[in-house]
Amino acid sequence: MARTDQFAPKLERNYQIRLRLQAQFPLLLRRLLDYRSGVDGNPALIEEIHTEIKRSGRRITFTRFMELALYHSQHGYYTARRQRIGKAGDYFTSVSVGPLFGRILACQFQRFRTELRNPPEFEVVEFGGHRGQLWDDVLAAAPDLNYRVIEVGNLLPEKIAGCVFSNEFLDALPVHRVRVVQGRWQEVYVTEDFAEALGPLSTPRLADYLRDLPVHLMEGYTTEINLRALDWLEDIAQRLQRGFVLTIDYGYEREDYFSPQHREGTLLCYHRHTRNDNPYQHIGEQDITAHVEFTSLIECGKKLGLEPVLFTDQSHYLLQVGESEISEIVARTAGQPSKERQSVHQLIHPELMGRTFKVLVQKKGI
Ligand SMILES: C[S@@+](CC[C@H](N)C(=O)[O-])C[C@H]1O[C@@H](n2cnc3c(N)ncnc32)[C@H](O)[C@@H]1O
Repeated sequence: MARTDQFAPKLERNYQIRLRLQAQFPLLLRRLLDYRSGVDGNPALIEEIHTEIKRSGRRITFTRFMELALYHSQHGYYTARRQRIGKAGDYFTSVSVGPLFGRILACQFQRFRTELRNPPEFEVVEFGGHRGQLWDDVLAAAPDLNYRVIEVGNLLPEKIAGCVFSNEFLDALPVHRVRVVQGRWQEVYVTEDFAEALGPLSTPRLADYLRDLPVHLMEGYTTEINLRALDWLEDIAQRLQRGFVLTIDYGYEREDYFSPQHREGTLLCYHRHTRNDNPYQHIGEQDITAHVEFTSLIECGKKLGLEPVLFTDQSHYLLQVGESEISEIVARTAGQPSKERQSVHQLIHPELMGRTFKVLVQKKGI
């Protein structure tokens, strides 16, 4: 399981939202009712997206829809600055499982610093740190680390020496959706009534990316392409003077990512700890995410001077880096119920977060 959704009951709020809308926005409601049934969410955001679709020739790419739904400057799911992660939010991450993840990562960052011979400018730059929970957990374990969190809209440091870190950041970047129709790739667009329509690929970069894929152009094969992840890698590879890129996210190597088993793609939405595959409901109130294709990150990284050091799953990684920490918890809590023991289980069990999450370490200038 990736983001965990087993903790809360299913909540069906469409009807209540409609009623609330009726009271607050009668005009808007009339418009909303013209949309495909099941379209709902933040009315102001729906209106903004609708206006942009109308202005843009009556359709926008799925990637633009996802960008607006998650990152619209005022109403986006992440930019609206509400609690999104943890019990009171929509899903759990390894960070929200408890402080153990941060304690183990603190060991990792200290080892990186030692490997670089303790330069004073050593810094951990975390992308997508949300509300800074991991920052708290890492610094509680290693208060002398320089640690910076980058969120949407923050300025990036021009030069980085140390470690660029992210956990569940790349899976939250807007993706292109593409589908095979009569043996050719078509792109998914979103129309005025929030229905999907197919059209030509919106950028030649997509055609380049898709040309060499190991996909047997099975009719109807649908997948997601995350060009933003590659843009991000290129950007940070330029900024990183010397050090490591540590990326943790759920995903697969290319062969798996594009296997017939994933012929519907990996796009998923999370709302109040319930998973669904409909990005046009709860717009602005649910997360939209796609798995990460790691082979491209590794190959692209090599061209950018980032040498791959390690690629494994979270279970193996945490057991290796956090060996002493985890053994101590397991021994101390043997035979008793314990939050720490539960955290170990949640983070490393293959059926929970241990196998789906992958860890990629790349290095530069070392
Ligand atoms: C799925 S959440 C992960 C949060 C946190 N890392 C965790 O594991 O609990 C993804 C985060 O990435 C952030 N994000 C998305 N695009 C970003 C960007 N271009 N720069 C910085 N942060 C970004 C989102 O705002 C969100 O907080």
